[in-house]
Amino acid sequence: MTELVKTEIADGVLSIRMNRPDKKNALTGEMYAAMADALEGANTDDAIRAIFITGTEDCFSAGNDLKDFLAGSMDDEDRPSLRFIRDIATAEKPIVAAVAGMAVGIGTTMLLHFDLVYTGESARLHFPFINLAIIPEAASTYLLPRRVGHQRAAELFMLGEPFDGHTGREFGLVNGVFADDELIEKAYEKACILARKAPGAMRATKALMKADPAPVLRQVDKEVDIITPLISSPEAREVMSAFMEKREPDFSKIA
Ligand code: COA
Repeated sequence: MTELVKTEIADGVLSIRMNRPDKKNALTGEMYAAMADALEGANTDDAIRAIFITGTEDCFSAGNDLKDFLAGSMDDEDRPSLRFIRDIATAEKPIVAAVAGMAVGIGTTMLLHFDLVYTGESARLHFPFINLAIIPEAASTYLLPRRVGHQRAAELFMLGEPFDGHTGREFGLVNGVFADDELIEKAYEKACILARKAPGAMRATKALMKADPAPVLRQVDKEVDIITPLISSPEAREVMSAFMEKREPDFSKIA
């Protein structure tokens, strides 16, 4: 198990903590694989009744590692990021997230698959895809419009601006906003409450609410077909290279 993802089982709760603070918990293949392994294990481990996902003190996740995008990580059809996305879409136990600081890209789209989402006061959620010249992923193009309505989804996806937990709550994406220094404790307590409920009824409730995952999984595949060539487009590569090189993108030489 990588040091970049910490897992622990206590109180009937599997905690999964993204732990790459120097890179704002940007997710690498190794991290996706570790999280996917933990999620798949939870489905069959009777000792686990709920799952708690969080990042580090000041950041949930800066999303997919842009260096990996630039290195062509999307070329592998069996890539761990896809396994992780399919696992969160089909997880059998309830998932609670605590979002401190920034949640960008898949750091925010993963939340659409979870059951309870709490943020800190200073958290910022962000669907930045349009600014990167790519499209949203993790079936968010299916889930978000259905969750918040087309206009609000268009605002979040097309304007591509960060928003806080209160806006997330108003839109129905966030269950509650806690003071930054109370977030982890209070969100974890919610996971513990879920873990103490009747496990069979909890599982059946989630299965019924999630109903048929097939359309969600189909949308993941559709998004992959579109995002894969886009990620290697000159425009996207310029935006991502500019971020890594700490400069503004320059599209002047792109036809
Ligand atoms: N991929 C790779 N590295 C990343 C990263 C990412 N998605 N996000 C941050 N990092 C790295 C930075 O390159 C920097 O590395 P360095 O210290 O070696 O230079 C380090 O993490 C800290 O990032 P920095 O931008 O200095 O932190 P910040 O607090 O000023 O800003 C964010 C935090 C999350 C707002 C900003 O890092 C950001 O916008 N990241 C990119 C998010 C993104 O576009 N994700 C992809 C979505 S598809």
